[in-house]
Amino acid sequence: MKKILSVMTLVAALAVAGTSQAMAQTVQGKPIRAEQLANDNWLLHVSPQETAKYLLLPVEDKAPEAHLKLIVDNQLCRNIDVRMALHKIDYYVPVVLDEFRGHNLVVQAHMNIDRSNRGGVGSEICWANIRLSDTFDQTNRERFRPLYHHTPVYGWMNDPNGMFYKDGTWHLFYQYNPYGSMWGNMNWRHSTSRDLLTWNDEGVAIAPDAHGAIFSGSCVVDEKNTAGFGAGAVIALYTSAGDVQSQSLAYSTDGGRTFTPYAGNPILTADVPDFRDPNMFWNDDINAWNLILAVGQEMRIYSSPNLKDWKEESRFGLGYGNHDGVWECPDLFPLPVDKLTSKQVDKLNGKQLVNSSTNNSSTITKWVLVCNINPGGPFGGSATQYFVGDFDGHKFTCDSAPQVTKWMDWGKDHYATVSFWGAPKDRRTVLAWMSNWQYANDAPTMQYRSANSIARDLGLFQDGGEWYVSVKPSPEMLAARGKKVKSPTEACEMVVDLKGSATITLANAKGEKVVMTYDDDARTFSMDRTQSGNVAFSEAFPCTTVAPTHGRLKQLRIFIDRCSIEAFDADGHVAMTNLVFPSEPYNSVKVKGGKATIWEMKSGK
Ligand code: FRU
Repeated sequence: MKKILSVMTLVAALAVAGTSQAMAQTVQGKPIRAEQLANDNWLLHVSPQETAKYLLLPVEDKAPEAHLKLIVDNQLCRNIDVRMALHKIDYYVPVVLDEFRGHNLVVQAHMNIDRSNRGGVGSEICWANIRLSDTFDQTNRERFRPLYHHTPVYGWMNDPNGMFYKDGTWHLFYQYNPYGSMWGNMNWRHSTSRDLLTWNDEGVAIAPDAHGAIFSGSCVVDEKNTAGFGAGAVIALYTSAGDVQSQSLAYSTDGGRTFTPYAGNPILTADVPDFRDPNMFWNDDINAWNLILAVGQEMRIYSSPNLKDWKEESRFGLGYGNHDGVWECPDLFPLPVDKLTSKQVDKLNGKQLVNSSTNNSSTITKWVLVCNINPGGPFGGSATQYFVGDFDGHKFTCDSAPQVTKWMDWGKDHYATVSFWGAPKDRRTVLAWMSNWQYANDAPTMQYRSANSIARDLGLFQDGGEWYVSVKPSPEMLAARGKKVKSPTEACEMVVDLKGSATITLANAKGEKVVMTYDDDARTFSMDRTQSGNVAFSEAFPCTTVAPTHGRLKQLRIFIDRCSIEAFDADGHVAMTNLVFPSEPYNSVKVKGGKATIWEMKSGK
């Protein structure tokens, strides 16, 4: 068998928009015949004796999704949606056959094709090109794949999920499609890192079941065995997205590597359609767990002694902040306010600060409620808003007037931001998904789609009687600095010391450029990507994003990684994250009104 597989090699003809230098995917294996049935259905039989590791399915990104049923020994085992290639093969995706070995596997496919302007049934290129193979080529074929940001090895990624830190390892799960580079078939895939820069792929951790796809959620480490799955079990809570959205639990007794869905799922239901993205945490103040959930236009807050039985405590949000889209992916956490004098406390318009339960009087905390919203962002589409206030384990009270809206990042590509559970030394470390639902599925990459932001650490600062969240690159980013260089490279950090207003222009020889402007009088910082390279893949892509700076800026830190630019000021008052797709890397910078120092970044790959 091995021999037959290895002699039959073909190369998938890749027509990748905007990636003319893309390598081809090598596809090995032997063809397997699909049989045409009536009514646009196809059937394929993989025998119990088959030893190949993968069934490789040919995909065309812009084709409609075909619906595939994986039937094992006459039982429906899995439903998957795959954009089976009609005219051209963009790439292949693997169905891993290990778990079906020794069983009859029947794949029954239904095409969803409007036949009015298509060839007759059977004209699709996919059916003659399905293969059985021992290998699946996941070599990177994208020149836009970032070097020091987290990306999936192949396939589609959106929200970061279930992030936690334990014993020196950062765990990141994420919304993942194993069967294509567009959104669909939501699984949680898992990556781990010891430095927030180098990520190891740990494979799929939670796959869809009869309750539905696995939407976003969170993980905690249940040190006290409150849920009964063992002390130190990792508990995941996620949204099961089937005909309705409900919340389900899964547990891991091997540190987050594999999960078992709880037999009593779903554990939380409601009579509303948008009911998702559970985020749970231990709260010493009530000696119990809290949970925050996005429900349409508001957040619901729950408590539980055991992570399974949840009692609704309160709701927050109606009339507060921005409501131009659906509220999603919440988070709720305390942040310490450092070294506040009593005078400063008085200055906060008499607003009461809550002392934490520790006796240390200098440790005062405010609570931050994170609410990702889509659409409704300041420049269209997705963005992360937040509220600062107090939380007693039962009710969140916002400090600001209802009409006040605060954004965590003022770029267009910063969404689904949530924090790591259990980060060391009381750090509040977050990751965002670096894209925007307005065009995420059309971004000009194909072998993989989407990256996470660099890790950021949050704090608090005050301006005009209001508390704001400060956003700074996590300290780990300093370790990524390599040698100093004179000009920008495709993966670098640029530190610009400012003397007042400044203009920073990044450019390449093709005349493509990104212009960043700090206006010291208006106290704004902006980034113009209208001429940054390929901006044509979506009307919503070309834009200039503008942020208030909350005071004078002294220094900017600008992180460039092939297709992203993340700008921060030294005090964490401004964060701005934007994607760019230049036809060649920006290799020159002109700074008017400041001085730039540039470090090449070490690749995390
Ligand atoms: C946010 C989101 C979540 C949902 C997930 C599905 O980007 O819409 O609300 O759980 O994506 O992939």
